[in-house]
Amino acid sequence: MFLSDSIHVSMLKIAAFASGKGSNLTAIVEAIEHGKIQNARIEVVISNNSHAGALAVADKHQIPALHLSRQQFESDESYTGAIQKVLTDHAVNFIVLAGYMKKVDPSIVRAYRNRILNIHPALLPKFGGAGMYGLRVHEAVIAAGEKQSGATVHVVDEEYDHGTIILQRKIDVAAGETPETLAEKVLRIEHEIYPEAIRLFANGAVTIDHYNTVTIAE
Ligand code: GRF
Repeated sequence: MFLSDSIHVSMLKIAAFASGKGSNLTAIVEAIEHGKIQNARIEVVISNNSHAGALAVADKHQIPALHLSRQQFESDESYTGAIQKVLTDHAVNFIVLAGYMKKVDPSIVRAYRNRILNIHPALLPKFGGAGMYGLRVHEAVIAAGEKQSGATVHVVDEEYDHGTIILQRKIDVAAGETPETLAEKVLRIEHEIYPEAIRLFANGAVTIDHYNTVTIAE
């Protein structure tokens, strides 16, 4: 079987993993509710942070949501097992990381190969990797004197911010830009390209071959 076959399912049953505000989650949920993404549903939201705004977003949209954190479990294995059980119980076939601050366990990456997406607030492969999150990313972009930044939707593999790139959108870094203003500009385009990437997967338009070459056909 080709890897790409597994991406083509009739309905994306999505689990969203989130740790923070949940603005990307909101953008995705609204795109589904407004019919911009068809053949997709968020089945469950999982957060490692009990205070995550993402849990309130789930609540507002009547999506089942769970707080699961490592501290609640005796071992990494039992923690990962609990997450896997939620995925199985909700028949999840696709995962989106929407501001998720933890590394996804390799067993989950393997089970959902090419079916886990992340969004990163920079133009990968630049300005990614461990420790590159939040304002640190935008500080680094400005410090490097970049003329452009942007957002990247990519497949999640075993390394931080490393997997196959699906969509990228650029914006200009203005003179006098601060990390805060840049973060705001980038977040706005995140809210456009993340739902768009999910729509492409939901439509079966994305093929990833054995060499990780992406083809988008619509
Ligand atoms: C976004 O900037 C995203 O790129 C990064 O985490 C942030 C999440 O924001 N991975 P939100 O929780 O979706 O508002």
